[in-house]
Amino acid sequence: MLGPTVGRLTLCRACGSRCLQQIRSKVLSVDNMNPFVKEMEYAVRGPIVIRAGEIEQELAKGVKKPFNEVIRANIGDCHATGQQPITFLRQVVALCADPVRLMKDPNYPQDAKERAQRILDSCGGKSIGAYSDSSGVRVIRDDIASYISERDGQPASAEDVFLCTGASDGIKSIMKILMTGEGGKNRAGIMIPIPQYPLYTATIAEYNAYPIGYYLDEANNWSLDLDELKRAIDEARPHCQPRAIVVINPGNPTGQVLTKKNIEGVIEFAKKENLFLMADEVYQHNIYAEGSAFHSFKKVLTELGSGYDLELASFMSTSKGYMGECGFRGGYCEFLNLDPGVKAMLLKSISAKLCSSVAGQSAMDVVVNPPRPGEPSYDLFQKEKNTVLNQLHLKATMVTEAFNSMEGLTCNILQGAMYAFPQIFLPPKAIAEAKKQGLTPDAFYCYQLLEQTGICIVPGSGFGQKPGTHHFRTTILPTVDKLKVMLGHFRDFHADFLRKYS
Ligand SMILES: Cc1ncc(COP(=O)(O)O)c(C=O)c1O
Repeated sequence: MLGPTVGRLTLCRACGSRCLQQIRSKVLSVDNMNPFVKEMEYAVRGPIVIRAGEIEQELAKGVKKPFNEVIRANIGDCHATGQQPITFLRQVVALCADPVRLMKDPNYPQDAKERAQRILDSCGGKSIGAYSDSSGVRVIRDDIASYISERDGQPASAEDVFLCTGASDGIKSIMKILMTGEGGKNRAGIMIPIPQYPLYTATIAEYNAYPIGYYLDEANNWSLDLDELKRAIDEARPHCQPRAIVVINPGNPTGQVLTKKNIEGVIEFAKKENLFLMADEVYQHNIYAEGSAFHSFKKVLTELGSGYDLELASFMSTSKGYMGECGFRGGYCEFLNLDPGVKAMLLKSISAKLCSSVAGQSAMDVVVNPPRPGEPSYDLFQKEKNTVLNQLHLKATMVTEAFNSMEGLTCNILQGAMYAFPQIFLPPKAIAEAKKQGLTPDAFYCYQLLEQTGICIVPGSGFGQKPGTHHFRTTILPTVDKLKVMLGHFRDFHADFLRKYS
C-alpha cells in the first residue's frame, strides 16, 4: 500500500502517514542484486526487439508507418514465423497428453499410438503429468542412445544421456559443473567462438566465468582456425583457468559446417591444452551446401581411438532441425568419459531440478525415433520433413544471393543452421551519426531498418565481431513469400541508406 513520496518519506496510502509497514524498503535493489545477472546480455531478445514489439502495438493502434507489419527475423523461432508442425510429432505428444480419448480415435495412426503407449508405459502412473527420473524417461533415453549409435555407427549408452529443458538447460548444467568456485584469475575460462550464440556469453557472465573468445575466420567461410585457438588461450591464461572449449556446429550465427579435419584439429587442440569439449550440435539436421556434411564430435573423437579419452558433452534440441518445436523445450545432452565422481555430481545437480518437461521429452522421442519405412506414418513424415528442409535450403540460397548482390554487403555461403551473418561496410558518415546517437554503428543500421521497413534483425555486436567490422544476423525463417518481400524492402532501404550517408 505504498502512497505518494514526500521528500524522502513514502506515505501510507491507507492512513496517509509514515507508518511502520511503509518505511520498509525493498530487500533487493538494482544496486545490491546479484551483479552477475546484471552483467548478462542476450541480444536476440534485446532493445531492438523490444522496439519491434512497441512498433507492433503502434501499428495495431492505427499509427501510420511506411509498412504495415513487423517482420521478425531476429530469433530462430520457426513456428513463430509460420512453419507448420510435423503431424506425427504432434500426434504422439497429443496421444501422450490425452490417451483416454485419443487412443480410441481412428484418426490417429497405429504407429503414433504405439509410440505414445510405449512412452506412457515408461512414465510413473502411465502419465506425462508425472515427474520422470531426473535424467528423463527411460525409454526415451534408450531411443536417444539408439539414434546416436545409428547416426554415428558406434555404440552409445542411455547411461550417458540426460534430457533437458531445451539444449540451453543442458548447456548451463554442464557449464555449472565446469566452474572452479573461485574468482579473479582462478575463474574458469571457457573458450567460445566469436561470433557466438549469446547464451554462452550470458551464462559465462551469470556464472562469473571468463570468456575466452576465439575468432572464426570470416575470409574462410567462418571456419575454425587452429592458430587462432592457440592465440586466444595463450592471451587468456593469465586471467583465468582455461577449462573448456565450446564449438557450435553447424554455426549460429555464422552458418558454417565444420569439416571432419577441422573437428580433428579442435580435438587435438583440446587434448594438448587439457580442455573439456562442449559440442553444440542443435543444427545437425540443417545442412544445405553441396559437399557439406554433419560430423558429430562424438563420432570423430571415438574414431581417433584410445589415446583420445577426452571429456565431451554434446547437445541436441527439438527446437531446430525440421521440427522447430521451440516451445516444447525438449533437448538432450550426451556426455562421454566423465570421471565417475563428476558424473554422480552432475546427476545430483540435475536431480535438484527434478526433471525436464515430460511433454518436451515425448517430442524429443519422435525426433530420435521417427516413423520407419513400412510404418503408416512414414510417407507423410518424410514428405513434411523434406518440405521444411528443402524450403530452408532454398531460403539459404535466396538470402546469400540477395545480400551478395547489394553494394557494401558481403555474405558467406550459408552451409547450415538457420541464419546469415553478413558484413556491412558502413560509410564514415553513418558511423559518425551512430556515435552521435550513442549507438554502435551496426545497431544504428538495424534501428534505421526497423523504423523504415519493419524488418527486425540483430546487430552483430550482440554476437561479437572483430573490432572495426560491422555485421547483422538475420534468420532465414520467414516463409518464402515473406522472405522475398523482406529482401526487396531490405534492398531499397540499403540503397537509400548508402545514398544518404555516402
Ligand atoms: C547454437 C544454439 N544452441 C542452443 C540453442 C538453444 O536451443 P533450445 O531452444 O534447445 O534451448 C540455440 C537456440 O537458438 C542455438 O542457436
